[in-house]
Amino acid sequence: MKAVVITKYGPPEVLQIKEIAKPQPKANEVLIKVHATTAHAGDSRIRRSSPWIVVRLLFGFFKPKKNLVPGIEFSGTITAIGADVTLFKKGDKVFGLTGLRLGAYAEYCCVRGKVKDGKQETKGIIKKIPNNLTLAQSAVVASGALTALKNLQKGKVTKGTSILINGGSGSLGTYAIQMAKYYGAEVTAVCSGKNVESLRTLGADHVIDYTKEDFTKTGKKYDVVYDAVMKSSRFKCKKILKPKGKYLNNYWLSSIKAADMETIHNLIEQNILRPVIDRTYEMDAVVEAHKYLDTERKRGNVIIQIEK
Ligand SMILES: NC(=O)c1ccc[n+]([C@@H]2O[C@H](COP(=O)([O-])OP(=O)(O)OC[C@H]3O[C@@H](n4cnc5c(N)ncnc54)[C@H](OP(=O)(O)O)[C@@H]3O)[C@@H](O)[C@H]2O)c1
Repeated sequence: MKAVVITKYGPPEVLQIKEIAKPQPKANEVLIKVHATTAHAGDSRIRRSSPWIVVRLLFGFFKPKKNLVPGIEFSGTITAIGADVTLFKKGDKVFGLTGLRLGAYAEYCCVRGKVKDGKQETKGIIKKIPNNLTLAQSAVVASGALTALKNLQKGKVTKGTSILINGGSGSLGTYAIQMAKYYGAEVTAVCSGKNVESLRTLGADHVIDYTKEDFTKTGKKYDVVYDAVMKSSRFKCKKILKPKGKYLNNYWLSSIKAADMETIHNLIEQNILRPVIDRTYEMDAVVEAHKYLDTERKRGNVIIQIEK
């Protein structure tokens, strides 16, 4: 099968399309014909080897493991199922996360789909696509929406919570704004001037243009500061937190459960949550997709279309 392989750690050009063996699902796995994946900040981190030690320990110390295929999230069609899988059947159109095994930048990938104690195992989270999204749109949902949800859960965001979301225009930020509004919070989002209007459209009550104003120096205090884009710090944000305020930055989140996937799925089908899609690239243009990703200017999400 055709796959994008990280041939060495470095700039987007290290991504090369190669022919590699098609994976075979184990008893607890499903085989997915990938429709689309994403140009994801995590894929860029692995390709660039950042943080150095973490990436090297997980994905190959001196050079990437043989045929290391990136791809944290996907959408596609199930074409084979392992003997123990009961939650899914051939032909199901699904979306989800590959987890640390990666592999969605390929024509096929395997994901765990086994049922254990009546619940889907959490490693490799998959679900049928929402009925109001296309397969391509569904590819951008799992990682960003679930990570944003876990942060809002950790911050106990609810009716009346005042939350500041730094990096409101990124993948995590666009999901976090919509969900925080749905949970009844008063949302202040931070982005550059060109994204101000779109964040208001997503529901932000207040938007701070960081090119004009430092959000840590407005004199306002918040119950929660979510540094979605991870460009600030707990130290800098301390002075804008209320006495029992919480600072969140995507670290130390509780594990994703099947119920979280259910929540995201329901919010989308109820038209409460919509993925923001900036651009779509073909698989052959993966280097261009990663060049754009590395500008750190993408708005929402970028699709990489695998299936023609
Ligand atoms: N996406 C995920 O599922 C996920 C999961 C876990 C962890 N993370 C980590 O979380 C971070 C954010 O991920 P992401 O996918 O949301 O990023 P992203 O989509 O790549 O973020 C791009 C956005 O960040 C904004 N931005 C850039 N510099 C900024 C700054 N100094 N202040 C405020 N906004 C700024 C840009 O808006 P402007 O053009 O307006 O500046 C752009 O819209 C990354 O470090 C990633 O590794 C991501």
